[in-house]
Amino acid sequence: MKTIFSGIQPSGSVTLGNYIGAMKQFVELQEHNNCYFCIVDQHSITVPQDRLELRKNIKSLAALYLAIGIDPSKSTLFIQSEVPAHAQAGWMLQCVAYIGELERMTQFKDKSSGKEAVSAGLLTYPPLMAADILLYNTEVVPVGEDQKQHLELTRDLAERFNKKYNDIFTIPEVRIPKDGARIMSLQDPTKKMSKSDPNTKSFITLLDDPKQIEKKIKSAVTDSDGIVEYNREDKPGITNLLSIYSVLTNESIDSLVKRYQGIGYGVFKADLAEVVINTLKPIQDKYNYYIQSDELDSILDQGAEKANFVASKTIKKMENAMGLGRKRK
Ligand code: AQP
Repeated sequence: MKTIFSGIQPSGSVTLGNYIGAMKQFVELQEHNNCYFCIVDQHSITVPQDRLELRKNIKSLAALYLAIGIDPSKSTLFIQSEVPAHAQAGWMLQCVAYIGELERMTQFKDKSSGKEAVSAGLLTYPPLMAADILLYNTEVVPVGEDQKQHLELTRDLAERFNKKYNDIFTIPEVRIPKDGARIMSLQDPTKKMSKSDPNTKSFITLLDDPKQIEKKIKSAVTDSDGIVEYNREDKPGITNLLSIYSVLTNESIDSLVKRYQGIGYGVFKADLAEVVINTLKPIQDKYNYYIQSDELDSILDQGAEKANFVASKTIKKMENAMGLGRKRK
């Protein structure tokens, strides 16, 4: 049994990319591990958010975690801002991190590029993410490929802290799925699918209705030769759709390519839309139940209580190691 931690930002509606790259693994992992799944709302305010929209997205994400199959009797589900230890440990780890290494993070470069005013929080996002993970003595972090660099930094910060102060942190391993680790935008298949993309046609959310799904897949950018083939370099659009199809059905890419030989994109896209609709239907049905149920708040209350209990013990160890406050046991 291992300790697992992962989080999702309530920065929009969860996409098929978030689901395939990260959330799909959570359900399998909770069977034999000690899992913490977090709604990382403090991360989402590193870029501007509308407060009412943010509150709605937090609740919606909590209901979605349950709808995909997170079982609160097996996993701890909680909201980051309801566990003050995250911000406390985040600060201590900011003081261990170097500005140079934070400026080298691809996500920081992408999200700050071309912006006039960038929050300091966008730069210090990775130490807060490291805090999220390290507070629970996490051994494995299941994420999509885009988070690999942040995970490497988390390991570096943990090792640096252990060496400089006291050996208190477990060094976590990253777990990236073999297939579907980077689902691409439907409108620009050279860019990753992101829930905060202003072009809503670029992503499918787990809550899109069948008509929206059909429309988005039909208008997904491909190429003009009409041959269903897997080639990331030359045919990124159809390759991305093939990956989605394969991960959701467990049918191999080779078998799909053979099956759609000489058939063309129209039929392929219509079939893929059906696959996505059928995958999301049971999730949406459960979501509609949880979003209205009183259970949601009590699950989040219990999750916050458990997370606070574990995380506050790590905070005491960190403060003692760094010499903050008075010595406590
Ligand atoms: N396109 C993707 N393909 C596979 N996995 C993905 N993830 C994100 N996009 C893809 C994985 O989803 C988890 C949650 O991500 P996050 O909410 O913490 O932030 P993110 O990685 O920045 O995801 P988004 O959708 O792009 O959010 P915004 O637009 O707010 O920045 C992570 O495990 C991530 O790897």
